[in-house]
Amino acid sequence: MRRVTLTQFLIEQQRAGRTTPELRLLIEVVARAVKAISVNVSKGALAGILGEAGTDNVQGEAQKKLDVIANEILLQANEWGGHLAAMASEEVEEVHQIPFDYPKGGYLLLFDPLDGSSNIDVNISVGTIFSVLRNPEGDGEPTEQNFLQRGRDQVAAGYALYGPSTLLILTVGNGVHGFTLDREMGSFIYTHPYMMVPADTQEFAINASNARHWEPPVQRYIGELQEGKNGPRGRDFNMRWVASMVADVHRVLTRGGIFMYPMDEKCRDKGGKLRLMYEANPMAMLVEQAGGAATTGRERIMDVQPHKLHQRVPVILGSANEVERVTKYHLEG
Ligand code: AHG
Ligand code: MN
Ligand code: MN
Ligand code: MN
Repeated sequence: MRRVTLTQFLIEQQRAGRTTPELRLLIEVVARAVKAISVNVSKGALAGILGEAGTDNVQGEAQKKLDVIANEILLQANEWGGHLAAMASEEVEEVHQIPFDYPKGGYLLLFDPLDGSSNIDVNISVGTIFSVLRNPEGDGEPTEQNFLQRGRDQVAAGYALYGPSTLLILTVGNGVHGFTLDREMGSFIYTHPYMMVPADTQEFAINASNARHWEPPVQRYIGELQEGKNGPRGRDFNMRWVASMVADVHRVLTRGGIFMYPMDEKCRDKGGKLRLMYEANPMAMLVEQAGGAATTGRERIMDVQPHKLHQRVPVILGSANEVERVTKYHLEG
């Protein structure tokens, strides 16, 4: 079997006019950072990297050591290549500028360096999520305003899943493609071409401990699923919740399903739980590119006009017919 590496895949995409050399370099650099994060994640307690960092981030969350390490790896890997105008991260309050002694490029990179960080200390899968935008024309250092573009303007999006294998799942607007890290060779091998999310499913993912805080449309929808084959849906549904968005969305991308972190009374004052720019938008692009759908319950995620970098949104994504149903319940209510 011919083994296609990520590099080869990207060069072929470039020849077909789907990426620029700069975007190819950007993705290669992100992939290199992902390998370094993967090494750290898998060493766990041996490297003394479990537990709290002792600091809080802009989200008001206690940072884990690995949140900080993964953030540093991504920032440092991407600073010097000349492909970026600036970066933004879940772990950094302001826009991260490229140091003045490095050349700048035309793209903006946003990331959640370590997703699912509550799972680090219990040795359960975590991930990295990233989104790529074009830096709008103009002089001077990119400001927060440069980043406030709708998800539909993303030029690429992807995530790494640090599970039993390390995977890199990617879209440049031409379907969703998955790569598995060959640890001996140190390269990502093309293993999952054109991933698709079936329109129907019998699996859902939601933190059910929030049920009492949900809005009526979500209570109705989940209630109907739980009634099983004797209820209005006429079939049984299964539930899974890893609490790492990357792992939960990867299940959806692999075999269908619906993933929800809806609006609830606990997160209402923040606008939702998950972050628009580096969690919801990249996952929405991937899921739509795989034939699925992604909404806030009331509008398409990728149509939401961001008004701040760390903005949060409700997220409902996955198999198109289920997402459409939940969205209909919201719009009727
Ligand atoms: P992060 O670790 O990057 O802060 O993100 C955590 C998110 C997401 O991965 C997951 O879906 C959700 O938080 C888990 O929430 P619960 O604690 O409600 O399960
Ligand atoms: Mn966090
Ligand atoms: Mn996250
Ligand atoms: Mn995170």
